[in-house]
Amino acid sequence: MSDLLQLEDLTQAQGDMHRPTLVERESIDYKAIAKNVGRIGEGKKYHIKTYGCQMNEHDTEIMAGMLEEMGYTATNDHHEADFILFNTCAVRENAEDKVFGEIGRLKPLKNRNPQLILGLCGCMAQEKVVQELVAKTYPWVDVVFGTHNLHQLPELIDKARNSQETIIEVWDKAGAVIENLPKLRKEGIRAWVNIQYGCNKFCTYCIVPYTRGRERSRLLEDVVAEVKELAGLGFKEITLLGQNVNDYGIDLKAYDFADLLAAVNEIEEIERIRFTTSNPWNFTDKLIQTIANCEKVAEHIHLPVQSGNNTILRRMNRGYTREFYLDLVGRIRAAIPDVSLTTDIIVGFPGETEEQFLDTLQLVEEVRFDGAYTFIYSPRAGTPATRFKELVSETEQKDRLQRLIDVQNRISREINDEMKNQIVEVLVEGESKTNPDVLQGRTRTNKIVLFSGTRDLAGQIVQVRITEPQTWLLKGELVPQRAGLAV
Ligand code: SAH
Ligand code: SF4
Ligand code: F3S
Repeated sequence: MSDLLQLEDLTQAQGDMHRPTLVERESIDYKAIAKNVGRIGEGKKYHIKTYGCQMNEHDTEIMAGMLEEMGYTATNDHHEADFILFNTCAVRENAEDKVFGEIGRLKPLKNRNPQLILGLCGCMAQEKVVQELVAKTYPWVDVVFGTHNLHQLPELIDKARNSQETIIEVWDKAGAVIENLPKLRKEGIRAWVNIQYGCNKFCTYCIVPYTRGRERSRLLEDVVAEVKELAGLGFKEITLLGQNVNDYGIDLKAYDFADLLAAVNEIEEIERIRFTTSNPWNFTDKLIQTIANCEKVAEHIHLPVQSGNNTILRRMNRGYTREFYLDLVGRIRAAIPDVSLTTDIIVGFPGETEEQFLDTLQLVEEVRFDGAYTFIYSPRAGTPATRFKELVSETEQKDRLQRLIDVQNRISREINDEMKNQIVEVLVEGESKTNPDVLQGRTRTNKIVLFSGTRDLAGQIVQVRITEPQTWLLKGELVPQRAGLAV
């Protein structure tokens, strides 16, 4: 009982944090602050291993851009690399364990080649415990730097190659928004664009607000300029990135996320606009209408619900109720009839009873998501939820996860089965990674489609008839030009 009281007090306190903290923000040009270390990577190779979310993937593109400016070239084989970097994720424990396992296995390589530089960056690097563990147990790591220190990569490599000690450079707080960072985007068709950094929500289980700092928005004109540049380079699809894109602009007090979507929608040559992630909180009617009205904004919303039970949602400090979420889904579907909805769900949160879990299952049945990322709760040091004592047993957690996956898979399959014989608009990405004999693309609703066709279709929008729907993807056949139109 005392645990429960403690829980209520804590969620109350966390609730206060929903008021966004306005931060002093300024934009700084990377070129003005970058320490020019010259082309010290000339003739050398780098290998970056990336974990975590799309934001981390995009950070890797930025670091690859910096490394190539220094003369480095990429390699997929870490054995031949001169610089190996782990861009890490701290959101769940198993991701962290994997990284330590890999760093451990690199010790012999480092012993054989003392010139090799090993680095660890990303969200794990922000954690004090990780910094200490690396210094104590993995001293063969040469450099550790945080999410706010990305722009210092060139000077840190320069320092590390001249030092016997592990260089640790981790700012606790975010500084300015850095503009004009170099980026190495490989695909040429789809691109990620950061619109906002950090998170103010402090969900009680989540480490992201601690690893990424408070919410900071990029200026609308800087985002638009980057998207225009990408359009000029031939990119067709843009995904706007932030932990809570709905909150975009709150710190700038001049415009909001809907205004940004409308501005990006005006950019010629861009065919599709996506965004992630939308917290259900602050998903305004203006935003729903803007998504409905902007023809380039794709009909897919990733709307993490986390739980279908109000007590759990409150303990998670999610800031909405089950009823609010269902009402929001109703308003979204009324305005955007063909929208596909995906979600994130955590099972086995401390104190979650069987009945409370059943509320989640029932919500999943009611909403009928197109897909869901499902997770077992993982305690993260320093987050409020670690103080909740009533842990759900591992067996129970695994059982709930499996039952949830079974329900969601059935629903995904049913929704996809309804698409059989439909003709859909597909943006062709190129050859499928798993089967180079077929092409892969995506529907506006973000479903993967595989079909036969020639490689020169990459980057084009084509019509595909769905012939064989599956749970996770759709197989189809190319429809000859214009044949998809009613005669
Ligand atoms: N900003 C996004 C989520 C980013 S983290 C949002 O709020 O919607 C991606 C997902 O990881 C979360 O939606 C959540 O489902 C999951 N997650 C975060 N912390 C977790 C933890 N401690 N244990 C298990 N899953 C977690
Ligand atoms: Fe922020 Fe999302 Fe983590 Fe909540 S789950 S604290 S909104 S990143
Ligand atoms: Fe992981 Fe950091 Fe993203 S914790 S999910 S890489 S913001």
